[in-house]
Amino acid sequence: MSIKDLLSYEEGAEKQFLNSRLGYTEVSGNPELRKVISELYTTMKPKNVIVHAGAQEPIFNFMNVLLDKGDHVISQFPTYQSLFEVAYAIGCEVAKWTIEQSENGWVADINKLEQLIQPNTKLIVLNSPNNPTGYTLKKEEIEAIAEIARKHDLYVFCDEVYKGLELDGIKRPWFADHYEKGVSLGVMSKAYGLAGLRIGWLAIRDMELIEKLIKMKHYTSICSSGPSEFLSIVALKHSDKILARNVRIIEDNLKIAEEFFNRYPDLFEFNRPMAGPVSFVKMNITAPVEEFCDALISEKGVLLLPSNIYSFQRQYFRMGFGRKNFAESLAKFEDYLIEKGYV
Ligand SMILES: Cc1ncc(COP(=O)(O)O)c(C=O)c1O
Repeated sequence: MSIKDLLSYEEGAEKQFLNSRLGYTEVSGNPELRKVISELYTTMKPKNVIVHAGAQEPIFNFMNVLLDKGDHVISQFPTYQSLFEVAYAIGCEVAKWTIEQSENGWVADINKLEQLIQPNTKLIVLNSPNNPTGYTLKKEEIEAIAEIARKHDLYVFCDEVYKGLELDGIKRPWFADHYEKGVSLGVMSKAYGLAGLRIGWLAIRDMELIEKLIKMKHYTSICSSGPSEFLSIVALKHSDKILARNVRIIEDNLKIAEEFFNRYPDLFEFNRPMAGPVSFVKMNITAPVEEFCDALISEKGVLLLPSNIYSFQRQYFRMGFGRKNFAESLAKFEDYLIEKGYV
């Protein structure tokens, strides 16, 4: 979306944007933005929200503030790399809680999660809706994980950057609303499709932790970009319309993708995402998936993420459905399969 398109959602916003000042903003974020973000939640107040640069800065800062060398962390797997890699870099032990493939899509085994808890476990890291599987935890699963975390007195960091793109129409609670030691990560980049704004946030009930995170932010970005904060306020005020627009793009692309995968049931096992614009597709072609994807991008300019990028040792690739030119890219992918003699 262009800046002009975004500003057109709100009458008078363009003029206000052009007249906005370019000084430093508040470390914890523009107060109006914190208010609009807090209203996404049921129990958060503006004081519970800290604005950051995208989602990557708060992942890095949170892990560095909470964790010490030797702590044990459990991370959902597969997931976005930095959600467990920052903990490794700090010197933590990391156990992976793998979401398993079943005949009917992905399955989260909560008992297995509890079995991974050690005496020195400090944190559970979740990513729901998940990159790359498109799996989203159901309300009962969120409740069960909160219960386990409460029993063992653990923090739960839930990366919810794709929240708002539920494709089954069911809205799940934000983790921070559900659990007193829950931390919710949100961002303008993913569900809203506004990555260039570089605005993300953490929602947290624990005020002591918030104070530490504000101090930490002085060492990373100090404050967020004022123009981006303004544009994020506009986008969040029109959240329903923007999310509905993005869900429509994904739904339209998924229809085309399903027709495609139905044509090649022997080659691929398609997992329809429950939420979000990505899915992890099982590939029954024997060529190593990394080589398969490397040749595809160099010969056709089409990007699929091979599972080795996620340190996931099975034949999967991630496909994205968030772009308007999806049909064109899929046609190029089909040409590639034909040229290589796979079909
Ligand atoms: C699950 C997840 N979390 C966090 C990020 C980082 O987001 P940002 O680019 O807004 O920093 C990404 C980016 O791909 C992601 O997929």
